[in-house]
Parts: sequence; C-alpha cells; structure tokens
Amino acid sequence: MHPSNAPSNLRKPRHGDRLVATVEGFDERGRARGRTCDASGEYAVELARGVPGDEVEIEVLGRRRQALHGRVLAWTRASADRVAPRCAHFAACGGCSFQDAAYPAQLAAKARLLERTLSRAGLALGAFELQPIRPAPAVFGYRTKMDFTFSARRWIDLDEPAGAVADFALGLHPRDFHGKVIDVGRCEIQFERGNHVLRTVRELCRELDFAPWDVVRHTGFARHLVLRESRATGELLANLVTATEEPERMATFARELLRRAPAITTFVQNLHSKPAQAALSERELVHQGPGFVRERLGETEFRLSSNSFFQTNVAQAEALLETVVEELAPGGDEHVDDLYCGTGALGLNLARRVRAVTGFELVEAAVADARATAAANGIENATFVAGDLAHTLVAEARPAGEPTLAVVDPPRAGLHSKVLAALIVRAPRRIVYVACHAASGARDAAELVTAGWRLVRVRPLDFFPHTPHLETVFTLERTG
Ligand SMILES: C[S@@+](CC[C@H](N)C(=O)[O-])C[C@H]1O[C@@H](n2cnc3c(N)ncnc32)[C@H](O)[C@@H]1O
Repeated sequence: MHPSNAPSNLRKPRHGDRLVATVEGFDERGRARGRTCDASGEYAVELARGVPGDEVEIEVLGRRRQALHGRVLAWTRASADRVAPRCAHFAACGGCSFQDAAYPAQLAAKARLLERTLSRAGLALGAFELQPIRPAPAVFGYRTKMDFTFSARRWIDLDEPAGAVADFALGLHPRDFHGKVIDVGRCEIQFERGNHVLRTVRELCRELDFAPWDVVRHTGFARHLVLRESRATGELLANLVTATEEPERMATFARELLRRAPAITTFVQNLHSKPAQAALSERELVHQGPGFVRERLGETEFRLSSNSFFQTNVAQAEALLETVVEELAPGGDEHVDDLYCGTGALGLNLARRVRAVTGFELVEAAVADARATAAANGIENATFVAGDLAHTLVAEARPAGEPTLAVVDPPRAGLHSKVLAALIVRAPRRIVYVACHAASGARDAAELVTAGWRLVRVRPLDFFPHTPHLETVFTLERTG
C-alpha cells in the first residue's frame, strides 16, 4: 500500500524512532530538508546537516503534522556531491552550513529554494524572467569584513580533553546556540590576512588579561573584533569593541597589536556598554591611522569607517553594481532615489549616468562617508538624507518632474509599510530592488505588482558560498 493511502489510525513517527530519509535540499536557515516514509505516511524531514542526494538513517526528535525534525545517526549512502569541508570548526560553527556540499550543488539547492520562495509570495514562475544564479568569483577567503565575538563561555566540543580553557573565546557562535562562542583559530571565508590579526588579538587579550564579555552577567571588557580589508588598496581596519574605555591598557594593546600585525593601517576602539549583543557603538576612538579604509567599487573610491555598511564580498559587489546598472538602464536625464543607500555604493556609481541621485540612509556615519566619498570623487549631483526612511521618504519633497527611477536595498526585513506606501506615491518608472532576504523581496515585489508595477526579471547573485544567503535583484516597471 502507498503510504499516502495508509489508514490514518496507524501510529505516526515519534521521538526515538529510527527511519531512513533522503536529503533533497536546504531551507533558508541552512538546514537540510528531505523526505522519509513509513507505513503511516510520507513526511518532510528537517536535519541540522546533510547534502542533497544523501541517504541517511535518522532518529526522530519531534514531529509537527507531516514534518519531522531528526538527527542523523549514519549515512547509508553518501551523495555524489559530498566534499570534505575545509574548516576545522565546520561541525559546530553557525557561519557556514554547506561546506560539505560541492559548490554547483549548493547553487542548485539555492535556485530551488528561490523558486519556492517566489511561488509562495504569489509571483507566478513563467510570468517573469528568472535568471540562473551568478556564482561568486571565489568560494573561500571572499569576505572582506568579519565580525568576531568575545565570550566568557567557550563552546567545548564533545571530543575535547577535559580541563581546556572554558572561560575565554574569540570567534563565532555555534549553530543555534548564541549563548556560547567557538574559539576560531582560522576562518576560511574571511580574507587571508584577517586570520593573522584574529590570532594576534586573541594572544594579546590573553596576555593583557582582557576579560571577555559575559552575555549572561553583562560583565567583561572585550566584546567584538571587527576586521575590514580593502581589496583595492590593501588597507586593513581593526575595530575592537569594548564595554569601557580603559585608556592605559588600550594604549599598550594598540602599540603591541600594531607591532605584531603591521598590516593594520587603522585601529579603532568602539565603546558599547549596553547588554545588546551586536557590534554597536556609542563612541569611537581612533588609536591609529585615518579611521577608515579606502575601497574601490565601479568608478568610485569609497571611504569606509568601522560603522558603515558596505558589501562584504567586494568582488561580487562589482557584479551586483553591473546588474543594477543594466536593470535600471538609465537614459541620462533621470532622478534616482537610492533607498537604504549605506555609503552610496550603488547611488554614487549611478550619479555619473543620471541627472541626480538622492540617497536615504539611517546611519549617520554611513551618510558622512557617502558625502565625503562624493566630494572626493567630484560627484556634485548626489545628495543624502540621513534618518529613518519610514519618516524621511514621506517628508522629502519630490524633485521637479518626478523621481523616475528607484534603487531599493533594504535590510533583511524588507520594506517598512510606510516606506512601501511612500515609494508607491513617488511612482518611479522602474524599481530595481536588491534583496538580501529573497522572501522579503518577493513579498514586497508582490505588493508592488498589486500597486501597478510589472515584475520583469529576477536575477540572483551568490555573495556567500557555503551559507544559505543569496542576493536577489527584482526589476519592476510601472505599468500605468
Ligand atoms: C543592505 S544595506 C544596503 C547598503 C547599500 N545599498 C550598499 O549597497 O552598500 C541596508 C542599509 O539600510 C540601512 N537602514 C536600515 N534600516 C533603515 C531605515 N529604517 N531607514 C534608512 N536606512 C536604513 C542600513 O544602515 C544599511 O546601510
């Protein structure tokens, strides 16, 4: 009897049962998704790890309707796309989910996931052009910026000898476990020189007895280490985020750090005393260098300080810029609204191709960087509005004529309803929407379709190999 015809009174899988499952793909959190069946029916399976094509024996940990959550006990057949992960921390780390899958298989799984996401948002496949994913130029060492966390609670692997240091770590969070931090010796996806700086900072913090931040007690001194390298100039910025200032100890730290890691061109300290766990800043102190690095994207040289957003895979950001320019297809006389403009990476490169650009951005430091970049590059037709777009876009007068084009590049949550409403009122002829979370982009694109735009094309680009993330560019044209 086919399981789907099985009588409903048969006992369904429950905690502790063992079944064989086939892995089919990934979900957007980076978990493996597959299928299994027994006499009672067919079930979707969610596993922490697995490569499409793997056949695995699982232990059921839980069930919600027809979906099982399980743990892999053994591989009964390894997928042909399985490869050896390069990273020593792969088993525990939440940074990379798919280092054990060959890159083409990662892209195929991401493409299937994107199709599902678009359909779920009500965007009918076939009604617009969906291009294949543009692969990343490099699959290791591609991140030009990394944020490492200090913790007084180190993640300890099961096979570690007893007595290892447990109260100091500098690295990344384990998957699904934000209370602890893996002491990362080397990160395979960050720029190579970052690994030397990471090790040096750890060594120095240990020598100088810097207490790592404790997320439960809210005590400690060292909180984050943020590293940024410029691909264009080789300049390297190191940013130590601390809970308090401690000028004397920091002067010693800065002196030693620059001696042991002379590649650092700027060393800054950012103060963050509040409990929230992010590399936020209440004040920045520049210990060495100009306080920023100079990076090049397109035809523009950018000034990037520690708190400004800039794409972290700069090589692939070139491809994104190229895609945005092609999709926006400016004729030369348009006004472009650049929403969520960051340091102006897209807008400042568009400014040379249009009449005027208005960039909108929340973070003051990013706006300051954007203005300085415009001045340094002789760009006079770009203006920037600082503040929350939910307020600034409504308040900003529409330029004479109309804002004929818009670039939209929001954070993962997508457009705030007030921003979406204000964008509809401004009525740009074409909207190029860059989504770092395809589900939010697809939801907003569907809203814009309802409001009178036509979805013309979707162009995905892979910025982050080995992770479930994808940048997706939606092109919409006003129909009326
Ligand atoms: C994905 S980044 C895009 C940056 C830029 N387009 C680029 O390519 O470098 C999103 C930006 O939106 C900004 N942002 C987040 N929330 C905002 C808000 N409510 N209003 C304005 N900007 C916001 C962030 O500071 C960040 O710079």
